[in-house]
Amino acid sequence: MSGPQEASLDVVAFDGPSGAGKSTIAKGVASRLGWRHLDTGSMYRAATLWLLEHRVDPADIDAVERSAATLALRLGDAGRVWLGEREVTRDLRRPEVDACVSVVSVIPVLRREMRGLQRAQAAQGPLVAEGRDMTSVVFPDARWKFYIDAAAEERARRRQGDYERAGTTRDLAQLLGEMLERDRLDTSRADSPLVRVPDAVYLDTTKCSAEQVVEEIVGRIERERGG
Ligand code: DC
Repeated sequence: MSGPQEASLDVVAFDGPSGAGKSTIAKGVASRLGWRHLDTGSMYRAATLWLLEHRVDPADIDAVERSAATLALRLGDAGRVWLGEREVTRDLRRPEVDACVSVVSVIPVLRREMRGLQRAQAAQGPLVAEGRDMTSVVFPDARWKFYIDAAAEERARRRQGDYERAGTTRDLAQLLGEMLERDRLDTSRADSPLVRVPDAVYLDTTKCSAEQVVEEIVGRIERERGG
């Protein structure tokens, strides 16, 4: 991990595959530190929803570029997201968004737009940011970097639990298949693929609770800050 002397940005950056517990952990760390939390996956999900609703084909780069220029994405507290005047927070986890988001998030023009918005968030004060390219591309100079991982079967089970809590029953084998396909797309794309950077602390959450991981991370940060 980069020490305070080498990196200067007051950012805790988290990367890792979906279902590894990043969001719960990042929210917990942000709450314990009293810092703002940025879920960049929700930004790509909002862009995906926007393109789906406007029937833009992600393969049509010109159309995506035109549409991205009118994307009025706004972020609020507690992970709330608006497209223009409409709050879309609850729509971001819809199965059709899940199914398309990895395809949409390969589009360079969108990634450029998102990077600008994400860096602007860090300019407003200390930040806990989670996604796929936080440690590698968006905040390479973050003071703290973590890669959160878990076994694929466990990640699929967690995703199934999320759906259940939202009132939807999903088949575990199918969820696992979708998750592996998204992992493949996220790690193999040309622009900002998900990677484990050498200076990120690797944490495997397969067998531990989010609370334990939050304790471990906050402990490390407080020790480094001399707290
Ligand atoms: O974390 P999540 O499942 O909400 O992310 C949804 C998708 O967004 C994920 O499949 C990859 C993409 N994503 C990305 O490409 N870059 C980020 N910084 C965050 C998410």
